[in-house]
Amino acid sequence: MSHSFLRPVPPSLLLVLAAACSAPAPPPEITAVSFSPDPHSYAQPAQARVTAVALDLTPDFDARVLAGTARLAVTRAPGASSLVLDVRDLTIGRVTDAKGAALTFDLGAAKPFLGQPLTIALSPGADLVIIEYRTSPSAAAVQWLAPAQTSGKTLPFLFTQGQAILTRTWVPTQDSPGIRQTYEAAIHVPAGMRAVMSAEEVTKAGEKDASGRAIFRYRMTQPIPPYLIALAVGDIAFKPIGATTGVYAEPSVVDRAAAEFVEVDQMIAAAEKLYGPYRWGRYDILVLPPSFPFGGMENPRLTFATPTILAGDRSLVSLVAHELAHSWSGNLVTNANWNDFWINEGFTVYLEGRIMEELRGKRYADMLRQLGRQDLDDGIADAGGPKAADTHLRLALDTRDPDDGMTNIAYEKGAAFLQTIESVVGRDRIDAFLRAYFDRFAFQPMTSDQLIAYMNETLFKPGEAEKVNVQAWVFGPGLPGNVPPVKSEAFEAVDAQVARWTKGDAAAGLTTREWSTQEWLHFLRALPQTIPAARLTDLDRSLNLSASGNSEILFAWLEIAIRNRYEPAFPALERFLLSQGRRKFLRPLYEALAKTDWGRTMAMRVYRQARPTYHSVSVGTIDGILKWQEK
Ligand code: BES
Ligand code: ZN
Repeated sequence: MSHSFLRPVPPSLLLVLAAACSAPAPPPEITAVSFSPDPHSYAQPAQARVTAVALDLTPDFDARVLAGTARLAVTRAPGASSLVLDVRDLTIGRVTDAKGAALTFDLGAAKPFLGQPLTIALSPGADLVIIEYRTSPSAAAVQWLAPAQTSGKTLPFLFTQGQAILTRTWVPTQDSPGIRQTYEAAIHVPAGMRAVMSAEEVTKAGEKDASGRAIFRYRMTQPIPPYLIALAVGDIAFKPIGATTGVYAEPSVVDRAAAEFVEVDQMIAAAEKLYGPYRWGRYDILVLPPSFPFGGMENPRLTFATPTILAGDRSLVSLVAHELAHSWSGNLVTNANWNDFWINEGFTVYLEGRIMEELRGKRYADMLRQLGRQDLDDGIADAGGPKAADTHLRLALDTRDPDDGMTNIAYEKGAAFLQTIESVVGRDRIDAFLRAYFDRFAFQPMTSDQLIAYMNETLFKPGEAEKVNVQAWVFGPGLPGNVPPVKSEAFEAVDAQVARWTKGDAAAGLTTREWSTQEWLHFLRALPQTIPAARLTDLDRSLNLSASGNSEILFAWLEIAIRNRYEPAFPALERFLLSQGRRKFLRPLYEALAKTDWGRTMAMRVYRQARPTYHSVSVGTIDGILKWQEK
């Protein structure tokens, strides 16, 4: 483990810094950290490491293949003679040095989810490796959409999803979050389409390749973990929001998206006030077709988002605050490996709550926090109860797919840990701590041990670490007893309406005027587990739940409908499962269906139709739930 931050800054560096004071800030250096081991990567970065990736790729929408070259800049230890990369389902062609001389390479045995090590013999002095390659049509990171799966219905679409260890299925590099790399790319696309990436666009107007394809160029000059390299290609329009913000989406969606996200500049201002400058230049949001498997993905400069947050009333935009917050927690300071995923997500949920509190006030943020606590309780139950090892913040995923560890625990127990620290040291001190933390560790990986050492060094006064009970929070199971209670005032009023309805009042007579989406969600979650059909009809008729255009409300209602086998809602359930691929919605619904024979039959029928439209990430999860065998 590295404690490099504990070392004093050498005087020579101080002189350099002093001399540089008036000069513009230098680009962030790729730090010479000692690499903490990553069980999910074959790379041996202490021997030779990739510092920069340059891609030249052409998507073939018929073959569903990305083909071209990756040019890797390499630094290596004296005497190191080989470079080890992570690859999965790639076809490797020639590998050469900068002068075009062939380099010998070896592809090791493939392991489930990890893929293969690609070991390249480095010629003496060579610091550049060029790999010709193509992806597989089933590359897990890449979803190829037929025109029918887009809202325009005329052109195909593709997007990538790198987190956690999927980048290796489309980019041959060292796919570990602790090995930061800059990147650039030239993407050759057919007429009528645009390529967007998680980087700065440097496209030359009108540039075409020999086959007449338009070339889109991007560059990311700040070192990022490779899971943040991202690409989308399709009929993509752009609409600005502020001077440095905007929305990309299919033409028929872009206006709606821009209206939904008008608060994005305020969100950036709130985040900067709390946590220091936004360091990535522009902040745009790409709204993807509905098969995008996540709510959002924090690709730098360009958050990828599901269209299911376009509720029409800005009620689900805390998701944007979340992805934006990753511009600090996650993208600037990054979990060193996936066992420390909570350092990305727990911090981000905490920041999200603070940003939303700045925008909409405490009453609103408290609702988000209380819903989060409920998610945490569910997460602990799903993980096997409060003693289960999967309820630790710091995980031991070593032989498992990191995807298995990406549960509500990292998000909500992580956020609850920071709320606990806040309750002990106060807001002013945790705010000052976080701001300094993002400055101090910008563009660096972070482990639980390093974080705790830094907290002990700069945050806690004597006795406070014990009062917080840091060790129990990070390395122990369940929810420590000192978690501060969250009590939403707004939800107390909702509970009163739940009580009225449960006693037999008609839904039409309840006081629900002015309820926000969050109040509706609390209402639905607080209803009894078992509800007779007539009472469900009362709810559905008066509150129009099956027809809700709000994906979160509809989802909460459909869970109730399945639990109670309320068949009038099943057409809506089927439509929902067929019309979007967000795993957070799919997983619980398929799980609930799979519990009964009738439900399982329905699930299999719907899934047979839906499966080809889902992303590999969702397919992997639902296959597991339904024990699906591809015939
Ligand atoms: N980084 C995650 C998405 C992710 C996690 C992708 C793990 C792959 C592996 C993103 O920031 C996220 O947490 N998205 C959430 C929404 C958020 C508001 C909790 C989601 O997709 O639902
Ligand atoms: Zn997140």
